[in-house]
Amino acid sequence: MSIQAVNAAPSLCNKVFLEATRDLRRFRPSSFYANSADEIGQAQGYINFDEFRQAHDFRRETIKFLLNTPKEEAVRTALLQDLFDAHLFTPMNYQIYHQTFIPIEMARRIVFPDIKPAGIQLASNWGVYPLFLKEQMGLTDFYGIDVDKAAIAYAEKIGAPVIEADARSLPFPAERFDLVFSSHFLDCSYFGFINSVKGLSWGEEFINFRLDVMREVYRVLRPGGWFITQTEVVSCQDLISSWTGTIAQVMTFNFESIKFDGLFAVQKG
Ligand SMILES: C[S@@+](CC[C@H](N)C(=O)[O-])C[C@H]1O[C@@H](n2cnc3c(N)ncnc32)[C@H](O)[C@@H]1O
Repeated sequence: MSIQAVNAAPSLCNKVFLEATRDLRRFRPSSFYANSADEIGQAQGYINFDEFRQAHDFRRETIKFLLNTPKEEAVRTALLQDLFDAHLFTPMNYQIYHQTFIPIEMARRIVFPDIKPAGIQLASNWGVYPLFLKEQMGLTDFYGIDVDKAAIAYAEKIGAPVIEADARSLPFPAERFDLVFSSHFLDCSYFGFINSVKGLSWGEEFINFRLDVMREVYRVLRPGGWFITQTEVVSCQDLISSWTGTIAQVMTFNFESIKFDGLFAVQKG
């Protein structure tokens, strides 16, 4: 399997950073702002967003709930944890939320300077990034996938191209895509949490989960296609190297105002 490194000079990184930040910041679909906070709560069966938040105080209530919850449901609960722990991944918080997409958007521009790649974002949540790619960048063959029904329902409302699917069994033929993105998904803080509170041997189930996802990523990528991942550098590199032989490139961007914990891109040979 051949591995190619992405060479991005600091001057190119800076230029791409400025452009990606500008475009993401400018993106303001009105659908985010029309009652979007309350719609998120309502999609979960609550009167409004505040009631939804109060009902899911992660620290006190969700752990209790999680301990008595079947495994599949625990994934669902982890979504709630994310929402309230980070209080970040919500469309109405786009002014801050968009910053989480800067690294992957930079990588997309560096890796594909000339084409609009066909691709997917794993665990795309409400589909804000796929919506940005569709509406702002003109990508016509890019989709988010997520298991969460409420996220899918909301994605539909805002017109985001998100498909309900499990990342361990993607509903696409082999070699379908040029690009697969993953961010804030396969990292320890998200799934490691589930294992630790359920008392499973640390990591075993988590590792199997990620291996299953990696196999699917590999299958749907065309030869020469790229897997670009963020926040998963430390926890995933052992697994990724198991199917590539080596890590192609680690790009770490540390900017004054925003510090990212890393990003890397691996090319399928
Ligand atoms: C922290 S969020 C990811 C943030 C996301 N990248 C964004 O742009 O907002 C984690 C997501 O993983 C999704 N998820 C959990 N298990 C999944 C699975 N097996 N397949 C696909 N998505 C999954 C959750 O529903 C949740 O939306």
